[in-house]
Amino acid sequence: MTTYLITGAKPYGEEPADLLIHDGLIAALGPSAAEQAGRYDDVTTVEAAGLIALPGMVDLHTHLREPGREDAETVETGTRAAALGGFTAVHAMANSSPVADTAGVVEQVHRLGQESGWSEVYPVGAVTVGLAGEQLAELGAMAESSAKVRMFSDDGMCVHNPVLMRRALEYVKNVDGFVAQHAQDPALTGWDTENPAQMNEGEVSSVLGLPGWPAVAEEAIIARDVLLAQHVGSRLHICHVSTKGSVEIIRWAKERGIAVTAEVTPHHLLLTDELVRSYDPVYKVNPPLRTAEDVEALREGLADGTIDVIGTDHAPHPTQAKECEWVHAAMGMTGLETALPVVQHAMVETGLISWRRFAEVTSERPAQIYGHAHHGRPLAAQEPANLILVDPHAARRVDPEQHATKGRNSPFRGLELPGQVRATFLSGHPVVLDGELHTSLTGRKGQN
Ligand code: DOR
Repeated sequence: MTTYLITGAKPYGEEPADLLIHDGLIAALGPSAAEQAGRYDDVTTVEAAGLIALPGMVDLHTHLREPGREDAETVETGTRAAALGGFTAVHAMANSSPVADTAGVVEQVHRLGQESGWSEVYPVGAVTVGLAGEQLAELGAMAESSAKVRMFSDDGMCVHNPVLMRRALEYVKNVDGFVAQHAQDPALTGWDTENPAQMNEGEVSSVLGLPGWPAVAEEAIIARDVLLAQHVGSRLHICHVSTKGSVEIIRWAKERGIAVTAEVTPHHLLLTDELVRSYDPVYKVNPPLRTAEDVEALREGLADGTIDVIGTDHAPHPTQAKECEWVHAAMGMTGLETALPVVQHAMVETGLISWRRFAEVTSERPAQIYGHAHHGRPLAAQEPANLILVDPHAARRVDPEQHATKGRNSPFRGLELPGQVRATFLSGHPVVLDGELHTSLTGRKGQN
């Protein structure tokens, strides 16, 4: 196995220190790295002066679409995008077709991830059969399967029945798992009607005449669920928090010691519902883009620890599902390949967080929440070599046509954003080098 000596990179954006990578581990960090490199025959030097070294990012919220919607994404294309975006682990949401509500489907997704070898894939199990919100899925069987599922979510749909939610929270305790809730009251968003909510309810929705999606539809579910989690003593995670009120409820719950964690997407940290005035469905997403006041509260919440992690909600869709009339368009945005630039722009360059905190919210916390032993570890000798090298000064215009994901539905198209992932090491192997796919852990080539 090749040994890599990374010279001059700045761990967490701090003082430069060489890193020696050997046999899947960071063998040495600091002045001893170059010295120890002398012990090995096959050493490749990676010049990294000016680059920042960070732990590989971990996404708790990725839609890989396989099985069933391979026209939108496959595990192969989605994990290529993940590697290029700096993610060494992704959690594949359950709304595939068939839904990941059995041991068979989660094992299939897990195996496809292992075969690809670009980023580790952890399947998320559905909470209810078919995401229908009526009957609990086989949570135990999925937990005991070879995929060892710990995270359960009906994402895309809300577990709105409070009794079912209570049972799910009780059940996951037995498998040391947690429920990740997509907080959206279906009645308050007209979900079962012919006129479902289309965008944030507010000034812009009234001007455009589109049915609005009130903030309370999200907040009411979060308030209910933190109380349920407290009542049964279980762990709750809130997917894609999007409103100021949600941040306040989560802050309240954390102050009371309730075991709740929360995520925010990069797009909710940057974009507002003003963009919907264009009627361009690239801005249609669930939960919807909110107001500038919400964006500010989400940024503050991420900075002060109320919100624990960045989750991309990478949601690729085929072109025809997005290039149509707003009301008929699918909801969702791609996110894996733009997450780091958007968060650098919205959070680091505004001075709201440091690169240390960036490592917490993109790697350490998500890994802790899931319970990973080999992701989200500190950059230190003898730790697993899951890490990335970032050029914080590279400024690039987002061009979705160049992305590895099949999805072209990036709301950041044309924006100039800072930050480029130059290298991604997965278990000591460079899956990305010089900003391009290299080879996967299983020997798949970057170029077709
Ligand atoms: O916009 C979204 N798209 N939000 C979700 O919760 C689901 C996702 C999808 O699967 O496309």
